[in-house]
Amino acid sequence: MQIQPASSLRGTVLLPGDKSISHRYAVLAAMAEGSTTIRNFSNSQDCQSTLDCLQQIGVDIHRREREVEIQSQGWTEFQQPTRTLDAGNSGTTIRFLSALLCGSSFASTIQGDSSLNRRPMQRIIIPLTRMGASISAHKDEYPPLHISGASLQGIHYRLPLASAQVKSCLLLAGLMARGQTVVEETTPTRNHTELALPFFNASPKHENGGIAIEGPVSLKPVQMEIPGDFSAAAFFILAALLLPDSEIHLAGVGVNPSRTALLALLEQAGVRLEQTNTRLSNGEPVCDLTVRHSRQLLDRFPAQIQGEWIPNLIDEIPVLAVLGTRLKRGLAIRQAEELRKKESDRIHSTVLNLRNIGIRVEEFPDGFAIPPGQQIGGGRVQSLGDHRIAMAFSVAGLIGLGPVEIDDPACVSVSFPGFFEVLQSLVVKS
Ligand code: S3P
Repeated sequence: MQIQPASSLRGTVLLPGDKSISHRYAVLAAMAEGSTTIRNFSNSQDCQSTLDCLQQIGVDIHRREREVEIQSQGWTEFQQPTRTLDAGNSGTTIRFLSALLCGSSFASTIQGDSSLNRRPMQRIIIPLTRMGASISAHKDEYPPLHISGASLQGIHYRLPLASAQVKSCLLLAGLMARGQTVVEETTPTRNHTELALPFFNASPKHENGGIAIEGPVSLKPVQMEIPGDFSAAAFFILAALLLPDSEIHLAGVGVNPSRTALLALLEQAGVRLEQTNTRLSNGEPVCDLTVRHSRQLLDRFPAQIQGEWIPNLIDEIPVLAVLGTRLKRGLAIRQAEELRKKESDRIHSTVLNLRNIGIRVEEFPDGFAIPPGQQIGGGRVQSLGDHRIAMAFSVAGLIGLGPVEIDDPACVSVSFPGFFEVLQSLVVKS
C-alpha cells in the first residue's frame, strides 16, 4: 500500500464502533441470562475473536451488519469447548475469556496467534490463581493457557501495573466469585467496564480503596449502543490538524476522558476541537467532532509525555510519534515500557519505522526521543503485523515529502477493516 503526500483532508469519517467497549459489552452480554442487542458493534477482527470464543462456550451469536444479538443462558451455564479457544491477535480477548473460563466448572485451553502467544499473562495468572483457579502457561508466562475452572473466591488486589485489561479481567472474575473482589489501581486506566456493569445489573462501588464487586452476580440482558472508536479517530484527527486547509467531521465519537488524553494534550497546545451534540450513550460520553488544520499545534504541543498520561493514550503513541517528527520542540515519550508488550514491541517498531522514513530518533528502554527540526522523507514501513503501526505510518505518508510504502496493510483489520478506503476518501491530492 503506497500512501502519497496529501495537501489536505476533507470530508466525513465513518468510524468503527469502539473496540474496547465492544469486547466488554459482548462478554457481559454472554454472562447475562437472556438476549442482549448491541448496536454499532466493532467490525474488527479482534472483536470477532471474542464473539468466536463466546460461541465456543455455548453462547448464541447473531450478527447483522453493525448489530450483534447475543443470547445466553448465563455464566453458570457456559459449556466446555470442544477445541482450543483461539483469541487471534487480541490481548483483550484472551484476558477477558480467561476470567470466564476460570469461573466455569470445566477444563479448557486458550491461545492466540504468534504475536499474542508472545505476550505476558502472569499479570492475570497471579490474581486469578489467588481467586482459586488453576492455570498453567508456557514458561509460566505465555499462551497457550490451560485453565481448570473453579468456584472462585473474591480477593483484594492492588494492580502492580496500569492495565485496563487486567482490571477488567478481575472485575469479570469478581462477578462469578463468592464475596467481595476489590481491584485497586495506582494509575487510572480506561473505565469502560465500570461504566457498563450497572446496565447489566451489577453495581461496582468505590470502596475499600478500589473498585469493589460483591459476587456472585446474576447479570441481566439489555440493549446497548457503542460509540465510535476514539483510537481509530486519532489517525484522522492528527492528519487533519497537520495538513493545511483540512476540515473533517467525525460523528458519534466516544470521548470518555479515560481515553482522550490526546485531546487534553492538544488543549495544552491551545488546540480545541469543535465538539457538538455532546451526550451520554450507556454512560459513555459521546460527541460529534469537527477537526480543522491548526498552525499553533506545532509550536506549543508538550515536548515530553510520561507518567499518568501514558495509560490514557497508550494506543495513540505510534501516531503521536509521527506528529512528533513535526513538532518545533521535538517529542520524548518516557515511562512507557508497557508499549513493548503490545501487538508488537511498539517502542522498537515505532523507532525502526521512524528511521525507515528518514527520521533521527533515540531509543530508550521505556520510550524514545525525536529531536526537532526534521522532515519525513518517505520510505518503506514494516508493519510487523501491528495494525496501529500500519495506520500511524500511513499518516506519515500523508504529511511527508515523499511516498510511504506500508507492507502488510491487511493487518489494519485487527481494529479497523476499511481504514485505507476511508483515508483515501478524505484525501485532497497535492
Ligand atoms: C485495552 C487496554 C489496553 C490497550 C488495549 C485495549 C482494553 O491494554 O492497549 O488496546 O480494552 O482494556 P492494557 O490494559 O494491557 O494496557
